[in-house]
Amino acid sequence: MGFEETLANATSDASYRRSRETSEKIHAKIAEDPSQFRMLTGDRPTGNLHIGHYFGSLSNRVKLQQAGVETWILVADYQVITDRDGTGPIRERAYSLVTDYLAAGIDPAKATIFAHSQVPALNQLMLPFLSLVTDAELRRNPTVKAELEATEGRPLSGLLLTYPVHQAADILFCKANIVPVGKDQLPHLEQTRVIAQRFDRRYGRPEGSDTPVFPSPQALLSDSGTILGLDGRKMSKSFGNTVDLGMSADETAKKIRKAVTDSDRFITYDPENRPEVANLLTIAAMATGRGQAEIAEEIGNGGGGTLKNYVTETLNELLAPLRERRAELEKDPEIVRRVLAEGIERANDQANETLREVREAMNMAY
Ligand code: TRP
Repeated sequence: MGFEETLANATSDASYRRSRETSEKIHAKIAEDPSQFRMLTGDRPTGNLHIGHYFGSLSNRVKLQQAGVETWILVADYQVITDRDGTGPIRERAYSLVTDYLAAGIDPAKATIFAHSQVPALNQLMLPFLSLVTDAELRRNPTVKAELEATEGRPLSGLLLTYPVHQAADILFCKANIVPVGKDQLPHLEQTRVIAQRFDRRYGRPEGSDTPVFPSPQALLSDSGTILGLDGRKMSKSFGNTVDLGMSADETAKKIRKAVTDSDRFITYDPENRPEVANLLTIAAMATGRGQAEIAEEIGNGGGGTLKNYVTETLNELLAPLRERRAELEKDPEIVRRVLAEGIERANDQANETLREVREAMNMAY
């Protein structure tokens, strides 16, 4: 590893630790008084949500909403075209995403679910925000770099380079102060805070206002570990190694039957040396709330087959109510359409109000 890389990793480790600590504190404050918080988070509508999404983020959002945190959830449709040539079946995917949110337990009476392409004033924030960042800063963004590498040498589009700024607009237009995300999104949160602070320093505040237009939002890291795909690689639809939320119980069984294990029949929890077996144990642990080692001990000599049966049964049992609600919603697409339309309307009201403050701060209210 070169010096710069070492330095970059050390820095990101430090910022990860800091974010972890901040997250712990926020969790404690939420338990005390959830009304001080507004969360915004979202997903790109690129395909079906799978159990990695569910355990890693969706179930946490539902918990936060149930704890009383005001909830904003974004279908990040513009972000889909940062690194691909067309939009594909994006409309169907957006509806499918909203269906998964509702099926997982997001309450549309309280949550605002919207697509950012439908909120002009949100998108307009991109202009003043772009004036607050340098191109060097954007080129250094680790997520932009990683995505650039993933596009395998295709040229960098202006949207890919600047999407962290657009993501800042997603977060700041509604003045969210907590953003439940994974570790990979931490650089975006840092960039968002920089934009919020620079806006205040450079453009100031609407006349008579003594608070900055934008809050300084914090990442809320979930404490559930991440799970791998059924072949031990990253869980991703492009590897075909996922269990999708919308799959049937039989499809789930079939997928898990094909999961990679190893030749040692006796089941132990050893993430270092037996990552695939450990991953199956983690999935079962997350589905049941039990510990991995305890499950491993119980299965012992039962081998990979017994482990897979246990994973299948517990996962299917956990997901059954969600899948039932999903099927109900699919029967009546009007429900999902209405939830999204109402969310878009609320998001527009909020974005228009924020843009008004921005224009006043910038002395551009004519
Ligand atoms: N970048 C996020 C992802 O790829 C999606 C996203 C877009 C998002 N805008 C956001 C997440 C704002 C949190 C807040 O998963």
